[in-house]
Amino acid sequence: MIHKGVAHACYTPITIDEAPDLKCYVLAPLAVLPEFQRKGLATQLMDLVEKELQPDVVFIAGEKHHYGRRYNTPHKIGLPVKSEMPLENWFAKEFKAGILQGIVSNTTVTGPYSNPKQWAHPSEQF
Ligand SMILES: CC(C)(COP(=O)(O)OP(=O)(O)OC[C@H]1O[C@@H](n2cnc3c(N)ncnc32)[C@H](O)[C@@H]1OP(=O)(O)O)[C@@H](O)C(=O)NCCC(=O)NCCS
Repeated sequence: MIHKGVAHACYTPITIDEAPDLKCYVLAPLAVLPEFQRKGLATQLMDLVEKELQPDVVFIAGEKHHYGRRYNTPHKIGLPVKSEMPLENWFAKEFKAGILQGIVSNTTVTGPYSNPKQWAHPSEQF
């Protein structure tokens, strides 16, 4: 069960330049109030939104211990801005098997997440 006001997830459309027909999102920010963390709420929220959005791919930038298991599709897709963030912190999850295979591409995003300040190294984010 999701409790309103406890967990927040924002999904912004993002375009893979070499595969513009794919329905892709970047998930940021994702946050759960400290006293409700480690109870699976972020996982429940992501499951729920993915069911509604029916994406081809979701990207997320962050730490491997948080996202490496769920967002585990190997890829060669770049960040949408110039950033110090290592690509090993840029995770993807494809929702149709093999959909990212063979694609080498940059990405484009518009709106607040086109500001490079939003794409700092994970260690500088909090
Ligand atoms: C990251 C965050 C959104 C996870 O929310 P949550 O409800 O606690 O997450 P869940 O309980 O659904 O767990 C999701 C995964 O993260 C892992 N995880 C969560 N907190 C962790 C921690 N402090 N250390 C290690 N792993 C952690 C869980 O084990 C789980 O991994 P799994 O799917 O491989 O089992 C939440 O901890 C948060 O808001 N943190 C503060 C902001 C932050 O640090 N964001 C991350 C920036 S990279």
